[in-house]
Amino acid sequence: MTTLGLTINGRAYGPTDVRDDLSMNDFLREHLGMTGTKFGCGAAQCLSCAVIIDNPDGTSSTSPTCVVSAASFDGKAIRTVEGHARDGELTALQKAFIAHFAFQCGYCTAGFLNEGQALLERLAKAPIARADLETTIADALDGHLCRCTGYIKYHEAVRDVILADPKRYLA
Ligand code: FES
Ligand code: FES
Repeated sequence: MTTLGLTINGRAYGPTDVRDDLSMNDFLREHLGMTGTKFGCGAAQCLSCAVIIDNPDGTSSTSPTCVVSAASFDGKAIRTVEGHARDGELTALQKAFIAHFAFQCGYCTAGFLNEGQALLERLAKAPIARADLETTIADALDGHLCRCTGYIKYHEAVRDVILADPKRYLA
């Protein structure tokens, strides 16, 4: 057993004892009932299980949760799909996903949302040239699988959010 304490969507959880072999995905879904984070391949191949990690240096990144132990998240701060909207108000990216009909079954959506949000936060800190935008979005979303093939619509939704605020995201 390992003692786990972490912050999820701004709220402290634990410390609590967890099995060493408990995955972060099972911790979120089975222990906390946070089922917005999905379980797809279970092999770090689809990223439907990805969450945002808020790093100590102020940057954010994403991590799969299916093949990563819950214990390894001790002391970390993460965000899940449940943490994006504030007081019922969807984020610009969530609204763009809806406007583009980016998802169908929605199974992959939490992963794409977290990845897209992490990209927006990265670009807000380090804006890029407009000419690099398409590749940057494609690279960021690469690895996320959507069986309903919403790839282009997800890409367009992220692009719309960036182009709606070019002073923030583009150099
Ligand atoms: S379920 Fe984690 S990468 Fe597919
Ligand atoms: S919307 Fe169904 S898997 Fe992506």
